[in-house]
Amino acid sequence: MSKGRIFSGMQPSGRFHLGNYLGALDNWINLQDDYECFFSIVDLHALTSTFENTSRMRENVLQMALDWLSAGLDPEKNVIFLQSHVPAHAELHLLLSMMTPLSWLERVPTYKDKLQQLGDMGKEINTYGFLGYPTLMTADIILYKADTVPVGEDQLPHLELSREIVRRFNNLYRPIFPEPQAFLSKASVLPGIDGRKMSKSYGNEIPFGASPDELRARVRLMITDPQRIRKTDKGDPDVCTVYTFHKIFNQEACAGIGARCRNAEIGCVDCKKQLAECMVAALSDIHARRQDLEKKPEYIREILVHGAERAQETASKTMAEVRDAMNLFA
Ligand code: TRP
Repeated sequence: MSKGRIFSGMQPSGRFHLGNYLGALDNWINLQDDYECFFSIVDLHALTSTFENTSRMRENVLQMALDWLSAGLDPEKNVIFLQSHVPAHAELHLLLSMMTPLSWLERVPTYKDKLQQLGDMGKEINTYGFLGYPTLMTADIILYKADTVPVGEDQLPHLELSREIVRRFNNLYRPIFPEPQAFLSKASVLPGIDGRKMSKSYGNEIPFGASPDELRARVRLMITDPQRIRKTDKGDPDVCTVYTFHKIFNQEACAGIGARCRNAEIGCVDCKKQLAECMVAALSDIHARRQDLEKKPEYIREILVHGAERAQETASKTMAEVRDAMNLFA
């Protein structure tokens, strides 16, 4: 029996890394058997901050679809689609914008932070569209009457606002929509190869879909315990990035490896080799699937087009109810 309906989205903003995968996508994959899921590549949301230069948009969408599919998100079980392929997102966003008070949008804590942050990077996005980001997110979710929304903690203020907009709609017109609840994804515990947060802007990422050789090369560059200079020095696995990865990719053996590091019984080179092979084993299927799918952009396109058709069916039904509830002339 289905537990409920899920909607979630990700902005297509360049290539995925392993941290994105373990922080978000693997959660979706775990949910796909129990819920009726709608997963959308939210290109309209991406436009709120990239409208000045859209030259990479098509490529980014394709890469995101490749990442999702090669990770094992199943286009049969889930509705996988591109947000801008389903115009009802834009239409419902417009209708919701009529009843969303400016003050609600302005007080979203992430709003001013993000404006400031991007402003500091020399990027002004003091636009109508950016202010309405949470309204568009609300439209995404309720178009499918989703009750459950898997997101990271950073999205909680947006979901809070979604519930307020839903309550307002339901009170003003007719109770059509369930109030969407967040399903909190566990945060990614994966650091970058230098031990800081994994991020492309630090250049410390491990690309998602990396080949076995790329994986080995990235592991070789990982920072270990800086106090451990010679192999005969005793190491401290708790400050070692390689060990953090062992805990994720080599769970059974990691306690033993930690103990041997503490006793200077295993050297960093060996330790890295073991880790690299565990990662290759865990990720080689994904790499192979990605290699295969990269050769079939037309097939990827078909999946997105078919997904949009399925999404559109549900969306049209909802829009008919919305128009009726708001007394738009039929
Ligand atoms: N804002 C989300 C993010 O950046 C992406 C998103 C857009 C989304 N619409 C959504 C997430 C609807 C959940 C539901 O992560």
